[in-house]
Amino acid sequence: MGGPSRWTFTFTIFILAITTISVQAGDNNHVYSPCRDTTVQRDDGFSFGLAFSSKTSFFLNNNASVQLSPCDRRLSLSTSSSQIALFRPKVDEISLLTINASSFSPDSAGGYMVAFAGSKYAARSPPTFVANSTHIVTSFTLILEFKQGRLQNLFWKRDGCASCKGKSKFVCLNNVDCAIRMNDCKNRGGSMDCSLGIQLAFSGTDKHYSVLNSWYEVQNLRQYSLFGLYSNLRKSLTDQFSNFF
Ligand SMILES: *[C@@H]1O[C@H](CO)[C@@H](O)[C@H](O)[C@H]1NC(C)=O
Ligand SMILES: *[C@@H]1O[C@H](CO)[C@@H](O)[C@H](O)[C@H]1NC(C)=O
Ligand SMILES: *[C@@H]1O[C@H](CO)[C@@H](O)[C@H](O)[C@H]1NC(C)=O
Repeated sequence: MGGPSRWTFTFTIFILAITTISVQAGDNNHVYSPCRDTTVQRDDGFSFGLAFSSKTSFFLNNNASVQLSPCDRRLSLSTSSSQIALFRPKVDEISLLTINASSFSPDSAGGYMVAFAGSKYAARSPPTFVANSTHIVTSFTLILEFKQGRLQNLFWKRDGCASCKGKSKFVCLNNVDCAIRMNDCKNRGGSMDCSLGIQLAFSGTDKHYSVLNSWYEVQNLRQYSLFGLYSNLRKSLTDQFSNFF
C-alpha cells in the first residue's frame, strides 16, 4: 500500500474511542488504519475516523477551496487541540455510533467534525458544525458511498429542522441543524444527555458489484421508527433520537 510518506497515520492526538468490533468470520478486510486504502465487500469491517477541530484547520493554509484529509500531515491537526475518534462498523449494516458526552466536549476541540478514510483515494466529508460554547448538535447521519468496494464519498445527510420543530429543548440553527443549548446538557448543569449519535448508512456497490442497501433502508424506515434497531442504546440517547424519526 505504501504511498507518499505524508499520508502515514502518525497522529499523537488522544484517541477518543476505538470501536473494535472483534474480527468476525465474515470480516476479510485486514486494513485497520483509517489512513490506508482498501476495498471491501459486504460483512467486512471498515475503519474510518472522525476528526474534531476548528473549521479552518481542515483546509490547506486556511484556504477554503483546498480541503485535505485529516490523514494528510500538511494539516498539522496534531499540534492543535483536535481530537480523533476511530470506528470500525460492518459494511452495509445500519449502525449508530455514539461518543459519550461525559468524556468529550466537541466545543473545546474546535467545534467542527470531518469524517475521513483512505490515502490515495482520500475521502473526507465537508466539515460540519457540532458545537460552540452555547449550542451543540447531537444527531448526525453519515452516508458512506462506495464504488466497487472503494470509498468514494462521505457526506452528511440533513433534514433541515423538520425533526425538531416544536420541541422545546431544541433550537433550529441556520435552518439546518437541530441543536441543544449547552446549559441544558447534563455535564453543564442541565438534564439532557448531549452525547453525539452518528447514524451510518452505506450506498453504492461493494467489490463484487453487490449493491449496498442500508441507505435505501434508512430512507424508507425514516418514516417509521429506526429505534427498534438500536435496542441496546441507553434510554437517554434514544429519547433524544426519537425526536428525529
Ligand atoms: C486557494 O486555492 C486555490 C486553488 O489552489 C487558488 O486558486 C487560490 O488562489 C487560493 N486562495 C488563496 C487566498 O490563497
Ligand atoms: C455516558 O456515560 C455516562 C457515565 O458513564 C452514563 O451515565 C451515560 O448513560 C452515558 N451515555 C450514553 C449515551 O451512553
Ligand atoms: C454558536 O453557533 C450558533 C449557530 O451558528 C450561533 O447562533 C451562536 O451565536 C454561536 N454562539 C457563540 C457563542 O458564538
